[in-house]
Amino acid sequence: MSDTLFNLTGVERHFALGETTVHALRGIDLTVQRGESVAIWGPSGSGKSTLLNLLGLIDEPDAGSLHFDGEDVHALADNKLTDCRNRKIGFVFQGFNLVPVLTALENVMLPLQIRGLGHSEARNRASAWLDHVGLARFAAFLPDKLSGGQRQRVAIARALVIDPMLVIADEPTANLDSENSRAVIDLLQQMNRETGVTCVFSTHDPRLLDHVPRHVRLADGLIESDVCHSATGAKPQ
Ligand SMILES: Nc1ncnc2c1ncn2[C@@H]1O[C@H](COP(=O)(O)OP(=O)(O)O)[C@@H](O)[C@H]1O
Ligand SMILES: [Mg+2]
Repeated sequence: MSDTLFNLTGVERHFALGETTVHALRGIDLTVQRGESVAIWGPSGSGKSTLLNLLGLIDEPDAGSLHFDGEDVHALADNKLTDCRNRKIGFVFQGFNLVPVLTALENVMLPLQIRGLGHSEARNRASAWLDHVGLARFAAFLPDKLSGGQRQRVAIARALVIDPMLVIADEPTANLDSENSRAVIDLLQQMNRETGVTCVFSTHDPRLLDHVPRHVRLADGLIESDVCHSATGAKPQ
């Protein structure tokens, strides 16, 4: 098995907008190794969500190539692509996307039940993940009884409970205050170190980058800089 999880070469993505075309990604070359933790950062409109949708196999490039886990995504049939996404990728969303009528524990159980796991095994695994993200005491709480930071921790547990090889988080801190934002990014880094899951998240806030080993800056649909810090605590360039 190669160390590379995904590789993009010359990737472009364009959207028709009335009479004009928006060039959201204009030629992205990017390689991410298994087990890396990468922040995609840049201003609003720079192409972060478009890029993460491609990495999450939700969308496909208009030009260039995208390889994920050794497969050329362009050559995969739709059902294989969906299967690959469901088994290998966990998602964390800006708006948390928890099911409001389910408890924290039931929300984390859901992806396992969708995969056909029995109730008690799903419950045990979900409990262990809630404990892992520091929320064991809140298992029986409904999402609206949790703070934003706690909801995002539940969402991180829900993304990781399927043992994905990749976690994609598109602006996971956009609805959080600065203290909770820092805590969520630190939790993602901790999960990356402890489980080896590859982690790619986006943010427009450079203050959140100082514990993240690799920073890819997007501007106008292009990679402006791609910096690795061997030691944590380094500031973005
Ligand atoms: N579905 C779409 N239709 C039209 N334009 C889009 C669509 N998605 C993104 N865009 C445009 O592509 C550019 C990049 O958007 P996006 O990837 O959402 O940036 P970011 O996440 O960095 O804010 C923006 O100009 C945005 O308006
Ligand atoms: Mg976005």
